Amino acid sequence: MAEIVIVPGEAEAGDLVADAIVDLIHRKPDAVLGLATGSTPLPIYRALAQRIRDESVDVRGVRGFALDEYVGLPAGHPESYRAVIRREVVEPLGLTPELVRVPNGDPAGIEHAGADYEAAIVAAGGVDLQILGIGRTGHIGFNEPGSSLASLTRVKTLTEATRLDNARFFDSPDDVPMHCITQGIGTILRARHLVLLAFGEAKADAIAAAVEGAVSAAQPGSAIQLHPHVTVLVDEAAASKFENLAYYRHAWANKPAWQGI
Ligand code: PGA
Repeated sequence: MAEIVIVPGEAEAGDLVADAIVDLIHRKPDAVLGLATGSTPLPIYRALAQRIRDESVDVRGVRGFALDEYVGLPAGHPESYRAVIRREVVEPLGLTPELVRVPNGDPAGIEHAGADYEAAIVAAGGVDLQILGIGRTGHIGFNEPGSSLASLTRVKTLTEATRLDNARFFDSPDDVPMHCITQGIGTILRARHLVLLAFGEAKADAIAAAVEGAVSAAQPGSAIQLHPHVTVLVDEAAASKFENLAYYRHAWANKPAWQGI
């Protein structure tokens, strides 16, 4: 079972994950991080940037792979995930830009971009810790409902619900690209530790289905049940639809001190 941690707020979740990442970097200075975009992971990046500064953590060897990218945004578009990862992760954390990759969403050569990305992840030795958010549709990465649980990085068509959710980052909903390139569910499951975060009431159904529902391509987040090491961090609002809430609290309160997340 995934470990479910109910936190008072986003900042506490950010601190817990930042601790785990700093420990990982101390053990493995060229650790490979799986990086998510969107609002959800921002508390992690904030907490991590602070820890790196305060403790002079050497992150020059840390490598990263983003989960996904839009297809067809002009090079340098501020909402391309290449730009977002640079602005929200690489620069504040002080990572080495050449060591952080984002799937290539350029339509020229897009048919090879998924296989190239998979090869790069394999060549890096795989992802050590994968940060994940979950969409209201239940997507992880941009794997919308129906995505094969064995899928690898490839081009997908976004649902209209996801395009509307992401319209807040664009001038108009019509500007949100129709297609994306995303790590597959199979790709995500190869990472050694999955850390899935969800905050707010709007995510309660999706996270309950992911943790407690049937494993199904109809709920891409439910694929986490197939992975041996998953940490789910939620605030009270996102936890409100869990059936086994009391047990999750009990297990966390009685967690052996040596375990870490
Ligand atoms: P959000 O998106 O973090 O902006 O809510 C999560 C997701 O769509 O995966």
